[in-house]
Amino acid sequence: MSKLEYRFSFTEYDSIDELDPEDAWLLGEARDITKSAYAPYSQFLVGAVAKLANGEIIAGTNQENASYPVGLCAERALLASAATVYPNVPINTIAISYQTIGSNGNHPISPCGMCRQALQEFEERTNQSIRLILGGLEGKIFIIDQASQLLPLAFTGKELKK
Ligand code: THU
Repeated sequence: MSKLEYRFSFTEYDSIDELDPEDAWLLGEARDITKSAYAPYSQFLVGAVAKLANGEIIAGTNQENASYPVGLCAERALLASAATVYPNVPINTIAISYQTIGSNGNHPISPCGMCRQALQEFEERTNQSIRLILGGLEGKIFIIDQASQLLPLAFTGKELKK
């Protein structure tokens, strides 16, 4: 028997002022795009903005539906859009922000389990890790070097090969 260990580390910043200008700009865009979310049911507006390896910028926001499970998270809206508009182009960095109607998010949120699965496969299919910048409209910010670090022992397409 052996006990295995999974280690994960990430960087915490006190505010957007501590970020590199390019990262600060991307987070600013993610904060802004939260306004485009359609979240009348949760009132939780999420914005995600990616810088692709070809230099292009792609955004996604959450899109809810009266039939609740139909709703789509900002991260998966972004991934679908990036893969459609620029097929096979890796993503370097995604900034993710949010606000709840009536108050500013003041701490980072991280992608839900379903989005972690989608991010993991996007990294795998493009052969490149995705950096994540996570922050609310104000407050601390987390930077994670590789999205799939959030999904240890991921289930992947390799398991489906005969
Ligand atoms: N949501 C996202 O868009 N991304 C996340 O990482 C977490 C949750 C959305 C889904 C739903 O529209 C709302 O936030 C509340 O869960």
